Amino acid sequence: MRKSLVAGNWKMHGSVQSVERLCAGIVSGAGSLGDVDVLVCPPSVFIPSALQLMAGSAVAVGGQTVSEQAQGAYTGEIAADMLKGIGCQYVIVGHSERRALYAETNSVVADKFAAAEAVGLTPILCVGETLEQRDQGETLKVVGEQLQAVIHLVGVDKVAAAVVAYEPVWAIGTGVTATPEQAQEVHAAIRQQLTEAGNGTRILYGGSVKSSNAAEIFAQPDIDGALVGGASLDADEFLKICQQA
Ligand code: PGA
Repeated sequence: MRKSLVAGNWKMHGSVQSVERLCAGIVSGAGSLGDVDVLVCPPSVFIPSALQLMAGSAVAVGGQTVSEQAQGAYTGEIAADMLKGIGCQYVIVGHSERRALYAETNSVVADKFAAAEAVGLTPILCVGETLEQRDQGETLKVVGEQLQAVIHLVGVDKVAAAVVAYEPVWAIGTGVTATPEQAQEVHAAIRQQLTEAGNGTRILYGGSVKSSNAAEIFAQPDIDGALVGGASLDADEFLKICQQA
């Protein structure tokens, strides 16, 4: 039985004050959630305060991206063992915004995954197709290639031991979610690609998840939680999504 994971991706939102409020709100409700893992991924400068504010609660804290390099002259970058060293457990790699806006190729994403995994962080590997690719019937091919690049570098067992997030690009921040059936089809294909090792892999759905649509998404057999953007910036809304997982 796979334990659900609900992860909040705060992206580049928040201030010192709003992060304090948001963490306090999530902690106050996190104790009464059922059997679900909860994670927040704040902007990197707020990770230390989030860790402090979440201390003693069951809420984990993670990064939104990580360098593929171990350390050195890489101005502005953050290494995996820095995240691990301050207490992060997870890091998102290959988010579509990183792929589209910061030119992260499948090969770079695979390197980042490897860097994270090597220090004991659990990577959350994001995959997903654009609307154009979906319209051309290329969804499973595109997602398959994104996944295969990482499998090729680190082996299927390490990918299966991580978390995969299927996030159709056209559903991110648009208010349009994939139908539960559309998502399930891709999740099942991802699990199949991970072979038998994938039976225990948590595969999250992401893209305009809210408390009003979470239940039908979570009802699908191969959906094991969510990566939540916009709705994770509101503690009550985020907790409602966690409750449904
Ligand atoms: P959204 O973002 O929930 O705002 O669509 C999801 C994500 O980008 O992880």
